[in-house]
Amino acid sequence: MPIVRIENLKDHAGAQVTLRGWLYNKTDKGRLQFLQVRDGSGICQAVVFKKNVSEAAFDAARRLTQESSLIVSGTVRAEERAPGIPGGFELDVTDLEVVQIADEYPISPKEHGVEFLMDNRHLWLRSSRQWAIMRVRATIIKAIRDWLDSNGFMLVDTPILTPAAGEGTTTLFEIDYHGTPAFLAQTGQLYNEANIFAFGPVYCFGPTFRAEKSKTRRHLQEFWMVEPEIPFCTLEELLEVEEQFVSYIVQTVLKERAVELKVLERDISHLQKVAAPFERLHYDDAVAMINAAAAQGITVPPNDDPLTAITWGDDFGAPHETYLTMQFEKPLFVHHFPTEVKAFYMEPEPDRPEVCRSADLLAPEGYGEIIGGSERMSDPQKLMAAIEKHKLPADAYDWYVQLRQYGSVPHSGFGLGVERTVAWICGLDHVRETGAFPRMLNRLQP
Ligand code: 4AD
Ligand code: MG
Repeated sequence: MPIVRIENLKDHAGAQVTLRGWLYNKTDKGRLQFLQVRDGSGICQAVVFKKNVSEAAFDAARRLTQESSLIVSGTVRAEERAPGIPGGFELDVTDLEVVQIADEYPISPKEHGVEFLMDNRHLWLRSSRQWAIMRVRATIIKAIRDWLDSNGFMLVDTPILTPAAGEGTTTLFEIDYHGTPAFLAQTGQLYNEANIFAFGPVYCFGPTFRAEKSKTRRHLQEFWMVEPEIPFCTLEELLEVEEQFVSYIVQTVLKERAVELKVLERDISHLQKVAAPFERLHYDDAVAMINAAAAQGITVPPNDDPLTAITWGDDFGAPHETYLTMQFEKPLFVHHFPTEVKAFYMEPEPDRPEVCRSADLLAPEGYGEIIGGSERMSDPQKLMAAIEKHKLPADAYDWYVQLRQYGSVPHSGFGLGVERTVAWICGLDHVRETGAFPRMLNRLQP
């Protein structure tokens, strides 16, 4: 009998197949045992009828505990109302073999607290909600790579061990590099800026590290970021790339992961509207919108926090981002942030240097910033002055400044955070569920 995965059962209706997996749940009706079997690709109801199997096989079915491993064979029957993921097919069991009877499983179908579940992350991953999230994540990553690879970008891996900060000195993880201090990469961008002069448009994609000192719904200590970088590219041109890229990712997930989004009970109406062009809002106008709303005493989800006024020059807090995105249906670019609040490498606007040629992309429905991007400073003198102003060690950036001495060109790039994107597309209110083993302020286990 062919060994089939549950997601492929539709190709085997009426045939005899074997499934290998684990018991997710069971209903005992005496002579009938309804087994919910999961195999990593889905969940299928296997019906064990006493008269259809050997006594040993029926006895084995009765002894199965939650998460016991098993091999079942039988006939695939199309049954519209059959429960499961994706559902629609049942297995009429003719044989059953137990691989292991599982010990009493700590995670039962009843409700558990978040800390308990996080402590048991290695087991929690087997639940259908976590399964659905991780499948969406895998598809997002594939869509990211597919789009870039087929739109003229070349993958160049950048180092994780670095000698200096890429994104501000307050979130560095320091390590000992044979007696010299070194840091885990916060970004691959600076190396990408070297790579564009050798290869044209490039991207790096890997884990990045930030020693974030506060607990929030959106910050991890380790997260995956994809960073495209493009020579001969202005901020305005960059935003056109970003909106095509993000639209492709969202539409691919809608097409390929409909079952998983249903498991997550995700309302997909906003996602269906994600298509270029996105909304664009100047930082000046964003501040005015926020302050007008704050004056009216407006509150924002998820906790009905009052929206506070901001002073021109401040960065946004999460409630400000939430308020802004709730005014629009599509993803929102906020552009031309104050130069002071952004990274040292961003190009100031020539006739108004207090703002820089930067843009953040905010996801709809209050999911916050998913992309940070900008045009880069292309003049070596201005760049050296910025490095000094930010009190960065000039020696460590020699090579970076040199890039502006040998054929400098206007260039731009952005970084998209995978976990924030997963949270948005899956409709999760916290990034802790967006990766298999998230690293958070108070959690390095398991
Ligand atoms: O805005 P950020 O800091 O930009 C950069 O790192 C640039 N070097 C990117 C570039 O232009 N090449 O981070 C980019 C994105 C954010 O929009 C967010 O999605 C994600 O990375 N991100 C985090 N995700 C989870 N936890 C954190 N602590 C994050 N910090 C940033
Ligand atoms: Mg940012």
